[in-house]
Amino acid sequence: MPSIRFRLNGVETAVEADPDRSLLELLRGQLGMTGPHFGCGANECGACNVIIGDRAVASCDTPLWSVADKDVTTVEGLGSAQNPHPLQRAFIAEQALQCGYCVPGILMSAAALLMRNRNPSSDDVKAALDRNLCRCGSHNRIVRAVLRAAAEMTAQ
Ligand code: FES
Ligand code: FES
Repeated sequence: MPSIRFRLNGVETAVEADPDRSLLELLRGQLGMTGPHFGCGANECGACNVIIGDRAVASCDTPLWSVADKDVTTVEGLGSAQNPHPLQRAFIAEQALQCGYCVPGILMSAAALLMRNRNPSSDDVKAALDRNLCRCGSHNRIVRAVLRAAAEMTAQ
């Protein structure tokens, strides 16, 4: 099996696996990162989103070979219970979730947006989250939470 190296949440990581397997499968299995969720498995729902570089991508539709030497960030690398990311604080403050299944992927799409645009408009947020589905219908509160986090981050 070839060894593929990349940085996972800032840590140099090497995995020996079929390079055509999906990144999501490796993350949730071999690498124990269960934050990215399996939803559709077809790049349709965003539940599995991670950040590669500064872009949110569907890890279910990303072959392992394509992340060689890249920076991969999962929700585990965003913040922790002790030190939450502003987005995580804002989602709690705005109660921007119900079941929470979609939220790791939404957080990663929002975090990628804020990496590129510290002062997004409501339309920017909606466009960035356009491919993230939430079956619970928390969309309005999610948009408010992202704008709240952006305001907090620009005020720092
Ligand atoms: S599980 Fe990857 S986009 Fe739905
Ligand atoms: S909070 Fe349940 S799917 Fe989004």
